[in-house]
Amino acid sequence: LRDPALPDPALVVLVGASGSGKSTWAASRFRAAEVVSSDTLRGLVGSGPHDLDASTDAFALLEHIVQARLGRTLTTVVDTLGSDAARRRRWLDLARRAGLPAVVVVLDTPASVCRSRNAARERAVPARVLTSQLASVTGTVAALADEGWDAVHHVRPAADATPPPAPART
Ligand code: CTP
Ligand code: MG
Repeated sequence: LRDPALPDPALVVLVGASGSGKSTWAASRFRAAEVVSSDTLRGLVGSGPHDLDASTDAFALLEHIVQARLGRTLTTVVDTLGSDAARRRRWLDLARRAGLPAVVVVLDTPASVCRSRNAARERAVPARVLTSQLASVTGTVAALADEGWDAVHHVRPAADATPPPAPART
């Protein structure tokens, strides 16, 4: 069972700062092919998941993959920071055109947890970058209510502390 219960097929847009647990959450609930990750795509067309010079190419691919999957009414989880309003609007339009429900999942992990997880990672995001990500996620959460999503779910670490053993798809 998925928690929260999500429509399927659907567009699922993740929102959360680095270290909030987006990719972990997605991996525990969806098949790898259902998750479209900007980091993964940077790794494919750049020198690695954090090669920011590859962002333009990576996001062009991401848009293409989201469009192709939604056009086939396949469940698509968009694993990015989620804070770009123009991109969110495009993904929502694509889901609407495909007749699919479209939901947002906010990884509402406290800043302190994001920071300590981030610090423990092999390739940590600079502290000031994380600070600005956390601020843009806060702004995004405020904007979501007026964007027309079918649902906006909040996943908090208490509910997500023990990721269920994969595969959780039922
Ligand atoms: N993590 C954890 N417990 C969770 C979720 C994540 O300990 N419930 C750990 C992961 O093992 C990982 C780190 O926190 O080492 C970041 O989790 P990740 O899912 O990679 O976070 P993202 O939001 O995907 O971060 P990024 O934006 O950098 O991809
Ligand atoms: Mg990630």
